Amino acid sequence: MTVWTPSDDGNADLSSHDAFVNGPPHNTFARLRRDDPLHWTEYAQGQDFWSVTRNADISAMNKNTEVFSSARGIRMEDQSHEEYMARRTFQETDPPEHSKTRMKLFKAFSRTTMAQYEDEIRDLCQPILDAALEQGTFDATKEIARQLPMRMLGRVVGLPEEDLPWLVEKGDALIANTDPDFTAHVLDKMDTDAYRMMPFNSPAGAELYAYAQELMEKKEASGDTSGVLHMIRQPAKDGSTITETEFRNFFCLVVAAGNDTTRYSIAAGIQAMCHQPELLAQMQAGGDIWETAPDEIIRWATPALYFRRTATQDFEMHGKTIRAGDKVLYWFASANRDEATFDDPFRVDLSRTPNKHLAFGQNGPHVCLGMWLARLEVRVLFQELAKRLKSIEPAGPHRFLRSNFVGGVKELPVTVTLA
Ligand code: HEM
Repeated sequence: MTVWTPSDDGNADLSSHDAFVNGPPHNTFARLRRDDPLHWTEYAQGQDFWSVTRNADISAMNKNTEVFSSARGIRMEDQSHEEYMARRTFQETDPPEHSKTRMKLFKAFSRTTMAQYEDEIRDLCQPILDAALEQGTFDATKEIARQLPMRMLGRVVGLPEEDLPWLVEKGDALIANTDPDFTAHVLDKMDTDAYRMMPFNSPAGAELYAYAQELMEKKEASGDTSGVLHMIRQPAKDGSTITETEFRNFFCLVVAAGNDTTRYSIAAGIQAMCHQPELLAQMQAGGDIWETAPDEIIRWATPALYFRRTATQDFEMHGKTIRAGDKVLYWFASANRDEATFDDPFRVDLSRTPNKHLAFGQNGPHVCLGMWLARLEVRVLFQELAKRLKSIEPAGPHRFLRSNFVGGVKELPVTVTLA
């Protein structure tokens, strides 16, 4: 049985969040990869843009930061220079400026540093899984997938335990700002103009700003110099430091990036287990599968559906000209189902090798900083889950997030029997 079949008619409007409510419009992506791999996409709410859908194209373009810049915004939406300056983080800069900040953080998020958290992640997983599984039938996104990432991030970043539920809520409102289940300020349906200087145009951005400020004041007053928040405020090699605005934006970035993406990877993995029952047995057999399974689950999930660049000069491709100033979207969601790169891309193959997925924005300087944490969380969670299960089945239809930026199963009813 395949996990899930796309239902769009092949002509979905990629600029519309509604086109993603039944999952990414993969029939449209397949058509574009085949017939129009550099597709001019109309956008009612702003400047039209190019959609790039092939894995090999995105992989090559993502390295070329001289032509395809992150420094004019990384979302589909247009931004004035003023908005860009107010909301940017190091993710919205290019090398060499980008490298200065990235260098400060690299070690804190490295594979070796993250490996030290394995036991802690396992300990965190146990009560979460026990509480969920004893219910028999439950929403796996809410009870399992939503629980782990922020708690883990709290440890890595050094956030007080009692603040974590509030941060999950604000992180949801921030990044899922296009889904009425997660915010009262739905981006494309209401006037969010008052918040246009805030991350993600969201009032949650203002609250997180204030929280970050207060947290650092408390930490500094008590001489606490642990964690990445302190690290990023240290001067770079050339003596430069980030501004207060950049610091607060970084905090919002970490809360947003570290929360939803890992959650929706876990949810997608559980959804896959429901529809491909052989996955449970493979996980239980263990061994080498754990070298490859996390990446395959994350490929399957591809929670960051796209990121945007802006062309700094004209560029010829597939017989067309991308003009300087044009917005260019890298659709990772499409790249990760590209039949030219993957055998049977709609099947979850836990031992897939090689796995040239681009879910982390691989091959460019912006490759996900949190990827080793995400891989570790996914591996440990599924190891612990598989060991407790005899079977897992769908207990009703699942529902996707309303967003063309973050893709995920927001509701996943399952029934389990325990081993
Ligand atoms: C499965 C989980 C995750 C996925 C799929 C994911 C995806 C991505 C992608 C695609 C990018 C590249 C953005 C671009 O090209 O502009 C990125 C960057 C980033 N991610 Fe993740 N992410 C995940 C987890 C995390 C976690 C857990 C954290 C934090 C703890 C994190 C923090 C970041 C940061 C700070 C950047 C910006 C890096 C830079 O610009 O140099 N991510 N992520």
